[in-house]
Parts: sequence; structure tokens; C-alpha cells
Amino acid sequence: MPTDPALDISPCVTDDDYEAWRQVRIAVLPYERTISVAELRESSSPDRLMVLARRDGVVVGHGLADRSSMAGGGSVTPRVLPEHRRHGVGTALLEHLVEHVRTLGVETLRSGADDDDSMAFAHRFGFVEVNREVEQTFHLDGPVEPTPPPDDIEVVTAQERPGLWEAAYERFGLEVLADFAVDTPLEVTRENWVREWLVDPMFLALADGEVVGCAGLGLDPDQPTRAENGLTAVRRDWRGRGLAVHLKQRTLAWAAEHGLTEVYTWTQDGNAAMRALNTRLGYATTRVGIQLARPLHDG
Ligand SMILES: CC(C)(COP(=O)(O)OP(=O)(O)OC[C@H]1O[C@@H](n2cnc3c(N)ncnc32)[C@H](O)[C@@H]1OP(=O)(O)O)[C@@H](O)C(=O)NCCC(=O)NCCS
Repeated sequence: MPTDPALDISPCVTDDDYEAWRQVRIAVLPYERTISVAELRESSSPDRLMVLARRDGVVVGHGLADRSSMAGGGSVTPRVLPEHRRHGVGTALLEHLVEHVRTLGVETLRSGADDDDSMAFAHRFGFVEVNREVEQTFHLDGPVEPTPPPDDIEVVTAQERPGLWEAAYERFGLEVLADFAVDTPLEVTRENWVREWLVDPMFLALADGEVVGCAGLGLDPDQPTRAENGLTAVRRDWRGRGLAVHLKQRTLAWAAEHGLTEVYTWTQDGNAAMRALNTRLGYATTRVGIQLARPLHDG
């Protein structure tokens, strides 16, 4: 495809750039929350590249490249506004993002697609399906009364006990992340654990002062009546005692108390236990996301 001289791809620098980047994500993924400009800035890192694609000064798409939490991977996400598709913008963005990922010393490109058109694009560039995630949604229409937690469990929030989440990385975080139903092991540094996995509110189950379970909500700055469940997890020695049900119900009770009407959650297709738990709580399956990968040095 010939290079389009009117197409400019540049990194986000100003708050206006970050806001324009957010607006592309909201337009392409209206069913997902997009974090605020402040959170985007706070979570920036040297590995992450966020770009805007402009044609004749008009934003037509955006891109995101970063080190993936999947070991040895770099993630690339080109997104093009629907009215500007099939004009080579996605191709130009992908090439730009791949160039950045080459500097990260990884071997595999990772991406994702939720619709057939994007899958066609991904196949065109050599990506293949490696996993699936399922979205399940809970609609709130009244208060939620959590079942009691197991004996000897105290539930607090990470926000009221600063330092607990960080301290939970080794004994709790690494263990529960190792149990994800993923095609490639997760590689989450302590810094990422704190920067990307902690949501607000995050409910923590404590046994003898140690974190043994968690469930939380990522709020949506653009749609205050909906939120996404953050990590729900229980340490292996505490599984099978109703702790995950209790913690997830705590998030739903919080949502009801704060006027939310919808909570959605994404779970690996292979995580039958979590999907069954959500179904039992009253979540309905609403969407499927395809996870994709390709060797970096492949065409
Ligand atoms: C995927 C996406 C970025 C493509 O953007 P785009 O600007 O339309 O892509 P391009 O014009 O560069 O397409 C390049 C080639 O991909 C293939 N392709 C793209 N869209 C396609 C479609 N709807 N059907 C079939 N093939 C398609 C074609 O081979 C196309 O070349 P052609 O137009 O000469 O036939 C865009 O659809 C999008 O934003 N999707 C949602 C976000 C997403 O899922 N991104 C991750 C994808 S890995």
C-alpha cells in the first residue's frame, strides 16, 4: 500500500493529545471503560508508546504499543475510526507500532480483536488466534446482600490500608497470576502489579493479616453508572470456601450503593471456574474477544 503523505502519526504529548486518544478508544470500543487522561499519564512508562494518526490535521485513528504482560511479548493495538477504515491507516499504524516493539527485545507480537473486520485485518498481517476472553455482564436493579465470608476472614479495601497491595505481590500476586488460563505465562513485575492491577475500590480478604483474596471495580470516568471488575482471585490454600463469591458480591453491593447499573468482567475462556462463578452470581455472557499473536520477525 503506498505511503499516504497527508497521514501523520505522532506520539501523544499534550493533555489534548491524550484526550483525543481517549476519544478514539471510546468511539471504537463504546462498551469498554477508558481510563482518564490523569491515569493515562500516571501509568506511562518508557516501554509504552501512544500515538495519534491524523490526516490533514484530523484525527482518524490511534495506536498503543507496550511490553505485554505475556512473557516475551510486545502488544500492538491500532484503532481506526469506522468512517476512515480501508484507506491504509490501520496498516500505517501497525507498522509504526511494530517498529517501537522491535526496540523492546521481545519475540512475539500480541494483539486482540472483538469483531470480524478487525480479525480480517489481523489475519492479513499474519496474526493467529491464541486464546479467547469472554465478557460477562451483571445488571443491577436493587441492593445486593453478600453471603457471609468464611470464618477468620477480615475484608478491607486496599485504599484504606495503603501498602497492603504492594506487600501482597510475592505471596499472593505471583501465585494467582500463575494460575491464569493463558497460552503464555504472565510476567508481571512488582511495578506493574501496583500500576496496572490495582483498581479503586479493591476489596482484600485478610487471614492473619495476609492478603488471601481480592476483587474490585475499575470505575468509568465517562459513564459513571458502569464499571469493570478488576482482578478477582483467591490464594490456593483458601479456595473452595466461598471467598470469591463473597468478595465479588462485595463489589456488586458497592456498585448498587453507589448508583451503578452495570458491572462487566472479562475472563479467559479456559477459566471455567470463574465463568461458572459469574453465571451463578447472575452475570450473563455478552461478548467474546479473540487474543492474537504472531512472531515479531515474520514478514
Ligand atoms: C483493524 C483496523 C485497525 C483496520 O484499520 P484500517 O485502516 O481499516 O485497515 P487498512 O485499510 O490498513 O487495511 C489493510 C488490509 O487489511 C485487510 N482488511 C482490513 N479491514 C478488512 C475488512 N473489514 N474485511 C476484510 N479485510 C480487511 C485488507 O486486506 C486491507 O487491505 P485492502 O483495503 O487493500 O483490501 C480497524 O478495523 C479497527 O480499528 N478495528 C478495531 C480495533 C482493533 O480491533 N484493532 C486491532 C486489530 S489487530
